Amino acid sequence: MNHILQQQLIDLAYIVAIVLFILALKWLSSPATARHGVFAGEFGAALAVIATLCDYQVIEYKWIIVALVVGAIVGIPLGLVPMTAVPQRTAMSHAFGALAAAMIGIAEYYVRVPNISKFEMVEIALEVIIGSLSLTGSLIAAGKLQEVLPQRPITYKGQNIVSLSVLGAAIVIAIWLMIHPGARQLFPAMIVVSLVFGVLLVTPIGGADMPTVISLLNSYVGLSAALLGFVLNNKVLVVAGALDGSSGFILSVIMCKAMNRSFTNVMFGAFGQVQASAAAVKEERTVRSATAEEAAAILGAASKVAIVPGYGMAVAQAQHKVRELFDILTKKGIDVKFGIHPVAGRMPGHMNVLLAEADIPYDRLMDMDAINPEFPQTDVVLIIGANDVTNPAAKTDQGSPIYGMPILEVDKARTVMVIKRSMSPGFAGIANPLYYEDKTLMLFGDAKGFVGDIVRELTGGGH
Ligand code: TAP
Repeated sequence: MNHILQQQLIDLAYIVAIVLFILALKWLSSPATARHGVFAGEFGAALAVIATLCDYQVIEYKWIIVALVVGAIVGIPLGLVPMTAVPQRTAMSHAFGALAAAMIGIAEYYVRVPNISKFEMVEIALEVIIGSLSLTGSLIAAGKLQEVLPQRPITYKGQNIVSLSVLGAAIVIAIWLMIHPGARQLFPAMIVVSLVFGVLLVTPIGGADMPTVISLLNSYVGLSAALLGFVLNNKVLVVAGALDGSSGFILSVIMCKAMNRSFTNVMFGAFGQVQASAAAVKEERTVRSATAEEAAAILGAASKVAIVPGYGMAVAQAQHKVRELFDILTKKGIDVKFGIHPVAGRMPGHMNVLLAEADIPYDRLMDMDAINPEFPQTDVVLIIGANDVTNPAAKTDQGSPIYGMPILEVDKARTVMVIKRSMSPGFAGIANPLYYEDKTLMLFGDAKGFVGDIVRELTGGGH
């Protein structure tokens, strides 16, 4: 096959891959089509990789096969982590993506130098700076989420000045290299300074903000990949990087909005320090608790029920028991809906994925804005392992760290029942006044066990 035809076929494969990436993003935005979205993305990526391997400039496959084997050895266990560990797994994937982008940029510099134009140098320098800082930033984020590093924000006086100076140093070196591309000895210095900046960028941010930071780092890695596409003159990399960069950025914006936080507050707010002291305040008020039998009787007598899942349902892996409960209540003619807060759980779409896994019909899942007006007509709200996303302090307590965050207004329903193991706070580390209201009943226990007990009571197997 001549080179021109070969290149045309590769370009065609790239166009198909790009279309698949765009369709993947579109399909991923609804639970009903999300699986198609995943397949489209996977197929598009495989197609792009195979097309690239067919490039006539690839003359030897030995090292590529070694890389594939190493990648598979690292990637397969990463793909098998439990659902609750997906945020840190995602951070690790970004770290590897950033590492790959940075290393290719480094290789390109040393292959091309000293015959390197100013424009190429800018592309390579930007790509290597962003790739390097995203590498260490993502590793720190994964460490915080896995709790091998302290979750709390680590701050010190003058921190922002130090961090910005380090970033400034990387930029100064990049400018110097643009003017004198042959100054090889400076290139490693730029890499080291960028790696240090990644650490300084993420260390002061609290664990609760890590998913937002990961999403932001995702957009940096996308940007780095797009720049790499320009360096290598590879169109699919430019488009895929741009899609990755923009979707990561949009997701960060959505998460910030759902938590009523600004970007600056996430990046520099050290959110997560106040909470520990708030949590330590001893609570004098008492709560009312109930048994599974009582909870089953209340649910059985209702005509409209809303279930609000949260992080605890994910931890307990209670979604299949929740499905059983949904089936029984629905069979009794009770209208059951699910209220999904955009940041319930620990990652975007966390609850949707779990409930879809348990085959709960999509049309029963209601977004926060859709279900909030329905709470005043709801007989019973059953909260399963959710806390912060139902905390009325977000509306009433100006001193609360979550003040202003939109919440599920469950306190408007007639009766509220909360399944959780103790009075411990949720991620934000603050008490929830909802638990002390007269209409609230606490159902203390593990989510899976307690929902299972309610199901047994409702099916008459409790005695
Ligand atoms: P949380 O406020 O974290 O509350 C979860 C509750 O589940 C805890 O209070 C815990 O109480 C309970 N729990 C834990 N294990 C349990 C088990 N096995 N059985 C029963 N209950 C269990 O969760 P949420 O309401 O879903 O809110 C999410 C939080 O994460 C928000 O603060 C949000 O801003 C933050 N966040 C989310 C995201 C995304 S994208 N989802 C991103 C960044 C931050 P006990 O210990 O008493 O059981």
